[in-house]
Amino acid sequence: MELDLKDRVVVVTGAARGIGAVIAGRFAAEGARVVALDLAFPEDADGAAEPSPSSDPAPSSDPAPSNAPGPNAAPHPITRLTCNVADPESVSAAVSEIVERHGTIDVLVNNAGINVDGPVADLEWERWRACFDVNMGGVFLMSRAVAPVMQEAGRGRILNAASFAAIVPSVGSAAYAASKAAVVQFTRVLASELGPWDITVNAYAPGMVPTAMNGFAEMPQDAQDRLLDTLSLRRWESPDDVANLLIVLASDAAGYVTGTLLDVSGGKLATQIPARAYGR
Ligand code: NAI
Repeated sequence: MELDLKDRVVVVTGAARGIGAVIAGRFAAEGARVVALDLAFPEDADGAAEPSPSSDPAPSSDPAPSNAPGPNAAPHPITRLTCNVADPESVSAAVSEIVERHGTIDVLVNNAGINVDGPVADLEWERWRACFDVNMGGVFLMSRAVAPVMQEAGRGRILNAASFAAIVPSVGSAAYAASKAAVVQFTRVLASELGPWDITVNAYAPGMVPTAMNGFAEMPQDAQDRLLDTLSLRRWESPDDVANLLIVLASDAAGYVTGTLLDVSGGKLATQIPARAYGR
């Protein structure tokens, strides 16, 4: 079965670094016309970049796409646009520019997100608001702006970054976990509202991908071991693990999957003590 994403217009938010940069590179390697949105891009960016087909399998804090054309060079360079997904005017301007350039939007990956940590007792209102403005507000604003474009085309895919925190939260993650749980319910409602246009809307829950957001790879080994011990697949998740799922969900093969939360966490807490299978 071929997952044919050639020439599809794919918009990825928060794509300057981390998981989003790899998602953008992987869709471009599939032949899609990718538009990467973020608050800012590294200084070497000049508006367009050759995508990297895949991330380094080793844990990395910042697997940003390379500018070097390689043997697996994608047919379309990635277009980079600055956009603040939490700002309605910025979102509207970016979506208008994308439609002007490419005519349509086939796939929207709402990847942009921020982590706001801290116990409820110490959490400032501004930080709580910022967390919801980006993680939930950004998904809402981007989806609201892109939906009419997809409705006109009579097809589309919206893929929303939730988190394992939306399933089982950690102590100190009230703002982040609640914002990601909100994304899950938003996804279900939007899936039903856009069903009549054959547009599917799904959320996905990565578990632990070492990036600049969490610094997992820089933690002391015993702290890393404690986290890894929660996984059925006892290894750090790679951005490619996330991208693989999204490529399938974006393809025609997933045309009957909508309104779901896909767990791509390596079986985190699938059982109470998964480390027992590793003799730990
Ligand atoms: P990251 O911090 O490495 O990258 C996030 C990107 O989003 C950055 O490039 C940042 O500039 C961009 N961004 C932040 N606010 C923005 C805004 N207002 N407008 C536009 N872009 C904005 O994070 P990472 O780890 O790559 O995470 C990506 C997504 O995956 C996030 O939604 C995160 O919550 C989610 N996730 C990550 C997990 C992990 O283990 N890394 C686990 C579960 C979910």
